[in-house]
Amino acid sequence: MLNSMLKEKRSAEIEQILAKYPPERKRSAVMPLLYLVQEEYGYCTDDGMREVAEICGIDPTEVKSVAGFYSMYRKHAAGKYVIEVCDDLPCVLRGADKFIDYAEQKLGIKAGETTQDGKITLTTVMCLAACDRAPMCQVNLNYHYDLTPEKFDQLVDELKKRDE
Ligand code: FES
Repeated sequence: MLNSMLKEKRSAEIEQILAKYPPERKRSAVMPLLYLVQEEYGYCTDDGMREVAEICGIDPTEVKSVAGFYSMYRKHAAGKYVIEVCDDLPCVLRGADKFIDYAEQKLGIKAGETTQDGKITLTTVMCLAACDRAPMCQVNLNYHYDLTPEKFDQLVDELKKRDE
């Protein structure tokens, strides 16, 4: 029997998402529903993807193929907040490499790792189309631009306070 955690915990958001599409086009809700799965479980779990398939009335293989195609859907466990710093060349030319060094030092982890409390994962990504505002990152899809050590400290403090 399918574990229906998502439907129990996020029913209002699921309804809001489904309301954006005609009933016969529920499959169009796969991508926003996968974001919910990711928020709830930290990554696209098999159970979560099966639940999305059930909600949309499609085969789980179709949901897995969407999650597999797009890099913004995580396939492995991550912290509640994922800080993705762009380290593509244009951003490096604006200091992204030094910024990543600072972020690693501040968080006490290397890029690709998660803090011991499980809250924050730091990772590097390819171009996020904000090259002129580097160093930049996105945190769970929200962009942060023109980063400095001070701004990063504030961002990390705010993320840590969110769940207190
Ligand atoms: S190269 Fe970093 S946002 Fe484009």
